[in-house]
Amino acid sequence: MITTNLQIALNALTHDEIVAIPTETVYGLAGNALRENTIRKIFDLKQRPYYNPLIVHIRSVDALHEIAQDIPKAALQLAERFWPGPLTLVLKKKDIIPDLITAGNDTVAVRVPNHPVTLSVLEQLDFPLAAPSANPFGSISPTTAQHVQGYFEEQHLTIIDGGECERGLESTILGFEGEQPVLYRHGAIPADEIEAIAGKLKTIIHDDKQPAAPGMLSRHYAPNTETYLTSNVSTMIRQYEGKRIGLLLFSKAHPAHPLITQQVLSPSGDLREAARNFYAALHTLDDGKVDVILAERLPDEGLGKTLNDRLQRAIQKA
Ligand code: TXA
Ligand code: MG
Repeated sequence: MITTNLQIALNALTHDEIVAIPTETVYGLAGNALRENTIRKIFDLKQRPYYNPLIVHIRSVDALHEIAQDIPKAALQLAERFWPGPLTLVLKKKDIIPDLITAGNDTVAVRVPNHPVTLSVLEQLDFPLAAPSANPFGSISPTTAQHVQGYFEEQHLTIIDGGECERGLESTILGFEGEQPVLYRHGAIPADEIEAIAGKLKTIIHDDKQPAAPGMLSRHYAPNTETYLTSNVSTMIRQYEGKRIGLLLFSKAHPAHPLITQQVLSPSGDLREAARNFYAALHTLDDGKVDVILAERLPDEGLGKTLNDRLQRAIQKA
């Protein structure tokens, strides 16, 4: 059920049910982060393996000290600068956080989401919310309440409608080695914006399927339709002549053709707009009406790096 009635959502969350919540990045499947039973429900609903830890959502920087300890100065500085916002910090956890959330790690991933509806929900609850993206494990992330509804039609999930997600890409995830910030996942805040504050980042991109083997790619954020990433769309189109082709393009439309469907992410060439439209465009192209999706590689700078990372994962074979 899609609703804008916060009382229904608050009531459900207080009774250990799962509720889909809007954030500025993507929708999340939220539940009481302090109760192991509720966390288990999230993993089950998402069909997510238990070795893949969840992000905890809190209401303010102050609330951070309730769940994390030994917080590096650099982390506090980044939290002050970017929260509420799409930055997740991986910090030493306090005992109050169940091991199930962290996949047995002694660290917890945490952020303050920047969405008025969800901030209001967090302010009215006396517990933080664990929330992975509101899609079955490995599939395209949801940026509207309707995307979430499409995934969980049969489960009668309560979904708070907060409109279209403003950023459209998951949060950037940072860990720390002492005071040295380490980039674990490219996200809605480009790495260079973080480096401007925290200095040079070390990069160890985490793999969701084999968290112990950083740097590897896993199939994730993936459409059902066969998808390819290319710097030269015209050449690829010739290879698939006769097939129904879906094009995911950055800024320039392809000449109209009866067998070609296309989504242009940002006609003005703005990466932030491209990010906002990205998952919705993939959802649209993946509706079963094309044989193949050809995605154009984005400029490899700023948010373009995050978009290319998501595309790279989308094309991995299962
Ligand atoms: O924007 C977002 O971050 C969205 C919204 C809903 O907040 N959430 C999201 O959650 O993308 P999810 O579950 O799809 O991705 C969370 C990722 C995990 O895949 C894992 O790599 C990382 O966060 N993570 C969580 N806890 C961690 C930990 N203790 N150490 C390292 N990585 C962790
Ligand atoms: Mg996800």
